[in-house]
Amino acid sequence: MNETISTILKRRSVRAYRPDPVGQPELDLMLEAARHAPSAMNQQPWHFTVIRNPELLRQLEEHCRGAFLDSKVEALREIARQEGFSVFYHAPMLVIISGDPSALAAQYDCTLATENMLLAATSLGIGSCWMNAVMMLHATEKGKAIFRELGIAFPEGYRPYAAAAFGYPAEPWPETPPKNADCVTIME
Ligand SMILES: Cc1cc2nc3c(=O)[nH]c(=O)nc-3n(C[C@H](O)[C@H](O)[C@H](O)COP(=O)(O)O)c2cc1C
Repeated sequence: MNETISTILKRRSVRAYRPDPVGQPELDLMLEAARHAPSAMNQQPWHFTVIRNPELLRQLEEHCRGAFLDSKVEALREIARQEGFSVFYHAPMLVIISGDPSALAAQYDCTLATENMLLAATSLGIGSCWMNAVMMLHATEKGKAIFRELGIAFPEGYRPYAAAAFGYPAEPWPETPPKNADCVTIME
């Protein structure tokens, strides 16, 4: 199997992180991979906000946990109530991928850039996990105010479309969860 396919198959959502930081050369490679994602009409309507400040991560995590607790979804409320639960799983780095909503396909573009980051991280032995709570928090007026208070700014008019935690796994690389193979139609 070639290296690219094996990296794609290896990527897993990692939910326990060591505190040691992701190095700058590794981050640079992940961001370069992100910037090479396809985008509608090559608009590249994305921006990458990298949060490595532990105190800022702690504060944002607390507010994200609050968003889970305020959620209408009982499963999310239950997760957030668990003793010791951390929305970011104590990851030392969070990247928020914001985009220009007036672009042709900002959400697709930002999501594709994010997946490139996840795959690049995997290829470097770095764990990653999509962090939906960040978008949930920002979706509310209260959440937008929290972002402003914390000084998490995006380029004028941009909004977050994706966020992911990154760091070195604190546990063995996760097993592959069930993946449905019954999702293909080939017409010939
Ligand atoms: C849109 C989206 C939102 C997700 N949100 C979260 C999240 O908030 N927290 C989390 O732990 N995992 C989250 N995940 C990760 C999924 O749970 C995970 O991809 C799925 O269980 C399959 O596992 P795998 O990534 O290891 O293949 C999210 C994934 C996607 C694509």
